[in-house]
Amino acid sequence: MNVTEAIKSRISIRAFLDRPVSEEQIREVLDIARWAPSGGNLQPWRVHVVTGPARDRLVETVQNAITDNPLADESELSIYPPSLQEPWRTRRYTLGEEMYALLGIPREDKLARLKRFAENFRFFGAPAGLFFSLDRRFDKGQWAHLGMFMQSIALAAMEKGLATCMQESWTARAKTVSAFLGLPDTEQLYCGMAIGYADETAKVNTLRSSRAEIDEFAVFIKE
Ligand SMILES: Cc1cc2nc3c(=O)[nH]c(=O)nc-3n(C[C@H](O)[C@H](O)[C@H](O)COP(=O)(O)O)c2cc1C
Repeated sequence: MNVTEAIKSRISIRAFLDRPVSEEQIREVLDIARWAPSGGNLQPWRVHVVTGPARDRLVETVQNAITDNPLADESELSIYPPSLQEPWRTRRYTLGEEMYALLGIPREDKLARLKRFAENFRFFGAPAGLFFSLDRRFDKGQWAHLGMFMQSIALAAMEKGLATCMQESWTARAKTVSAFLGLPDTEQLYCGMAIGYADETAKVNTLRSSRAEIDEFAVFIKE
């Protein structure tokens, strides 16, 4: 698999097989991704990996927290700005509509959509989950560097036959997850990532999100 193939064929997988992924496999992926660049070579990232009974216990703990309090944890991070402007608003809307259409869930069926969203908190059935966090003293630059590390993981995973879905949705349960992982107060949870084997028969995994054309985001200054 060359770099172009890896970048272009990586997609977010939202239905996984019940097939285990070993610590060794995840270590192999991390061993590649740790070569991601970071400003000043700070390598600011931290990752917690949950597999096996720990993964199941976390899913159960979060499920119980949702039952006790359906409202999301107060979060320091908002996934999107409070009022999303164009063109980003339409992009987000389109993604949601395309995904729910594949799942056969109409717009009016809020409960079904909510239930489907809650699949995030089961890692969409993946046997393993990664959680990314940063020291609170870091600034915006380090957050960007963490993103490079995460994309490197997603690409390295593909080469090993594994699929991923990055999951900011876990921030809705940041307190519960941070406590479960034993994150110190000095560290902020950013994002989760489901990792495992894609269920190739699941329709949701056929979702191919679109991208803006180059001239919509790139400016070439020549003279
Ligand atoms: C940091 C980050 C967090 C994300 N969080 C979620 C999430 O919580 N749940 C989800 O279903 N998809 C999540 N996604 C997946 C995006 O919706 C997806 O990357 C985007 O629609 C592009 O589609 P693709 O990944 O299939 O190319 C996330 C992606 C990124 C980069």
